[in-house]
Amino acid sequence: MRQRVLIVDDDPDHAALLETHLGRVDCHVDLVPSGEAALRYVALGAPDLILLDVHMRELDGFEVCSRLKASPETKLIPVVMVTALNSVQDRVRALDAGADDFLAKPVAGVELRARVTSLLRLKALYDRLDDTERIVYALARAVEAKDSYTEAHTTRVAAAAVALGRAVGLSGAELEHLYRGAMLHDIGKIGVPDDILLKPGELTPDEMQRIRMHPQIGEDIARPLRSAGDLLSIIRHHHERYDGAGYPDHLAGAEIPLLARIVAIADAFDAMTSARPYRPAREESEALQILRREAGAQWDPALVLAFLSKAVADLRRELEAVRDGRAG
Ligand SMILES: [Fe+2]
Repeated sequence: MRQRVLIVDDDPDHAALLETHLGRVDCHVDLVPSGEAALRYVALGAPDLILLDVHMRELDGFEVCSRLKASPETKLIPVVMVTALNSVQDRVRALDAGADDFLAKPVAGVELRARVTSLLRLKALYDRLDDTERIVYALARAVEAKDSYTEAHTTRVAAAAVALGRAVGLSGAELEHLYRGAMLHDIGKIGVPDDILLKPGELTPDEMQRIRMHPQIGEDIARPLRSAGDLLSIIRHHHERYDGAGYPDHLAGAEIPLLARIVAIADAFDAMTSARPYRPAREESEALQILRREAGAQWDPALVLAFLSKAVADLRRELEAVRDGRAG
């Protein structure tokens, strides 16, 4: 996944210059023209690095930086403040505001690229080291380990979801949310007793009720994650049906978040093609036939079409590569 850099500058020429310099760094760049716009942008999804101009009308760079660093959700985003040349006062204030680094105007391309590259590398490391997240992923693996029938299920669901997400043109950031949401979608099963989860026979209505709690339990478990926003809606809504007959909220059609609709298809396809305590695995062709038949009832018909026409071939190649040990 490409990392995202946000440039915050009310001088469009200077913003464009920074963007040009970053053309040679492997990252996605977005520009916003004010401190307010920067805070709105970050609220929708944290970038991996912010280049923040100090002197802007209305909300200045110091204030934006202080606010980002005061919030637990955004404090780990590296902020580089772009200050006036030789202004010691600016630099001191930038450090007071919690900036991770600063650059003096006019910014030299070589220096900018070196700083950005090194901070992005550090950010990738921070991301991997987030304690809460590590624990939640460990829990997700524990859920898999509880049930040998679902071994590697979440990894395959994530691969299928990303293949479908790619087929419908999702952005890199969306694919990343999708991947993580798919990895964690069934984490709430940790709160369902094993004798119900692994029961080979038919479930009583009461047991069914217990199993149907897992999306909400999962949502509670994942809530502390820094990146929780999109993940929570995937976890909560992955058992909604397109016709509104799913659970827990009986959402229908486009009311169901797109990423949850994608995971629902990926999850069902993998479940059908895997053996379960109560039935053997189905052939892939049969699973695809069921997807086609239930499109519009259980699943989003446009997504099913994309899955059948594009994603499934990519997925097959990817899963074969994983099996052969050639890929992650
Ligand atoms: Fe589930």
